[in-house]
Amino acid sequence: MKNLVLIDHPLVKRDLTILRDKNTRSHTFRAVLRRTASLMAYEVTSDLAIKKSVVRTPLERTTGYTITDQIILVPILRAGLGLVGGFVEVLPDARVGHIGLYRDEVTLQPVDYYLKFPSKLNHALVLVLDPMLATGGSATSAVSVLKSKGARKIRFVSLVAAPEGVRLLLKTHPDVKMYTCSLDRELNAKGYILPGLGDAGDRIFGTAE
Ligand code: PRP
Ligand code: URA
Repeated sequence: MKNLVLIDHPLVKRDLTILRDKNTRSHTFRAVLRRTASLMAYEVTSDLAIKKSVVRTPLERTTGYTITDQIILVPILRAGLGLVGGFVEVLPDARVGHIGLYRDEVTLQPVDYYLKFPSKLNHALVLVLDPMLATGGSATSAVSVLKSKGARKIRFVSLVAAPEGVRLLLKTHPDVKMYTCSLDRELNAKGYILPGLGDAGDRIFGTAE
């Protein structure tokens, strides 16, 4: 699909299998999600702008590199928090904003309850993090909020995506590149991704155990 990058490295496939498994408990789920997030970050940042610098090894001077893109991570609460640790592990200078959205269980429409962003969104590459792209309502709404606050370069990063969500995000925000580790089959009547991994927030935070 246009604008969609599939992150299908063997290490990611192995980790996604653990995350899908209904017998994986919260503490393992969290740790594996964090590790997967670092692997995803590697792919999502493969085209970052860099500039040459000079570095002195113990023996001589040689060429080094610094990253010139400013990165802002914006997890969608709650489940997006599960991806932040793995991203900041490899992007230690990234700043982090937060957007609180939940899906109304009846209408499936996103409702926002918390917004807090670093300054200069317009100068940064903004990576919106959420493990699940289901109907696409939350992602579309998060991107709209970020654009209204000035963000211009936005990427959306999910672990698992449904075709319905990919289509909605692409239609509403065709400028936003999407990254996911799996394009799953479909949504069920309750808006859950099939085969999916269940309720990501509940699995990260143990709220259903
Ligand atoms: C989940 C998930 C996404 C959203 C995806 O959050 O983390 O934010 O659903 O669904 P959509 O594409 O249909 O909008 P949820 O509303 O369950 O909130 P939580 O993260 O607080 O558990
Ligand atoms: N949110 C989740 O956590 N899981 C789904 O399958 C869909 C939305």
